[in-house]
Amino acid sequence: MSQTSSQARDGFTSTFGVLAATLGSAVGLGNIWKFPYLTGENGGASFLLVYVIATLLVGLPVMIAEITLGRKAKSDAVSGLMKLAPKGQPWWLIAVMGVLAAFLIMSFYSEVAAWVFAYIFKALDGSILSTDPNVTGAAFGALISNPLQSLLWQWLVLALMGGILLLGVSRGIEAITKKLMPLLFILLLVIGIRSLTLPGASEGLAFLFSPDFSKITGGVLLTAMGLAFFKLSIGMGCMMTYGSYFRADQNIPATALRVMCADLFVSMLAGIAIFPAVFAFGFEPSAGPSLLFITIPAVFASIPFGHFFMVLFFVLSAIAATGAMLSLLEVPVSVVSERFGLSRVKATVTILVVLGLVGSTCGLSNSSLAEFKIAGKTFFDLFDYLSSNIMLPLGGICLSLFVGWVWGREKLEEALTNGGTLPLAIVGPLFFLLRYVSPLLILIVMLKGLGLF
Ligand code: PFF
Repeated sequence: MSQTSSQARDGFTSTFGVLAATLGSAVGLGNIWKFPYLTGENGGASFLLVYVIATLLVGLPVMIAEITLGRKAKSDAVSGLMKLAPKGQPWWLIAVMGVLAAFLIMSFYSEVAAWVFAYIFKALDGSILSTDPNVTGAAFGALISNPLQSLLWQWLVLALMGGILLLGVSRGIEAITKKLMPLLFILLLVIGIRSLTLPGASEGLAFLFSPDFSKITGGVLLTAMGLAFFKLSIGMGCMMTYGSYFRADQNIPATALRVMCADLFVSMLAGIAIFPAVFAFGFEPSAGPSLLFITIPAVFASIPFGHFFMVLFFVLSAIAATGAMLSLLEVPVSVVSERFGLSRVKATVTILVVLGLVGSTCGLSNSSLAEFKIAGKTFFDLFDYLSSNIMLPLGGICLSLFVGWVWGREKLEEALTNGGTLPLAIVGPLFFLLRYVSPLLILIVMLKGLGLF
């Protein structure tokens, strides 16, 4: 519980704390699991290029806008949009869609986190330490096809998140992310260096850095843009919620830019840790969601003290996943507790129980429910697709339109410059991007990706 809840809203307490928590939301399984496997499935460097462009042109402006709206409103995302929008206009529906997206994302994300947590123990007993893809692949297959194990790990992860959230914003989220993010950077750097020095690693680098433009299709464009949204935790009110905990004197564009750069850097490090090893050991870059879980153990198996480092890697990955999950949960928890007046404890417990049920559909997607498909996708794939490729971009369009056409330049400038005390040259270009470029670009990519034109 927040220590200050009766007098003032809980919030982040220091500039570094704000940065760490925001980065903690952005950096997560998206970097070490989703980014590498999507890059592997969608042709490597050309995908990476589109992803970086989407991050710069759409991701960064939307992130700045969301945080600014949040800090201005100082409340949960639904109430925030109600406060900021002219009376009677239903812009708050963006946040309702965001709450829904949070449930869908948490459903599959908590399952991947469950695999990561389980891998800490598999790493400890050494059962996955092998350079043979058959061994690492079989170990992963055994884990995800066991319904009981999948569910128990998933529920354990959800319960753990509940415990941390109950500690509140500054003592729970901020304290944990602040301590552990730097460690993850360092370990990824170590793995990256080892992966690069494996014989045959250069093919992996070429895959990651020499683009083949013929691989870019409408579907690839949408996947890359969806990843940009997912990575920066935008388009669903998450950054708006975190923005509401920002301090009044925080430089929002500078914080967002730092988070974006650090996040890209972590993804690149993960790519450099994984792809050279994929090619060196003869794995398939397009292995899909299992990529992280079969290649990383193989890299460690070829390193002195690899056993120790592998345990550390999965511990840090679990921590990175935790920072992201806390931010995902914070969206519905803050809406339910602030909007509907439930205590934080009750809100958290209610949401986690619902998630335990909804999320089970994803937890069982590789076992009992593997054959149950909607539009050819398991629940896991469907929730992932719907959230990243439809809901987040749609949220991005609506938020840009809201700032660009409804809230307006003056209010944006006033909020961004901390009431005029922070001279910023970027307000004009940012406003232009939000008013015209982002909404149009997102719309075109969505329509193209969905095959609608
Ligand atoms: N950005 C997180 C990651 O890349 O792992 C995932 C995420 C967190 C998405 C929070 C959306 C969100 F609101």
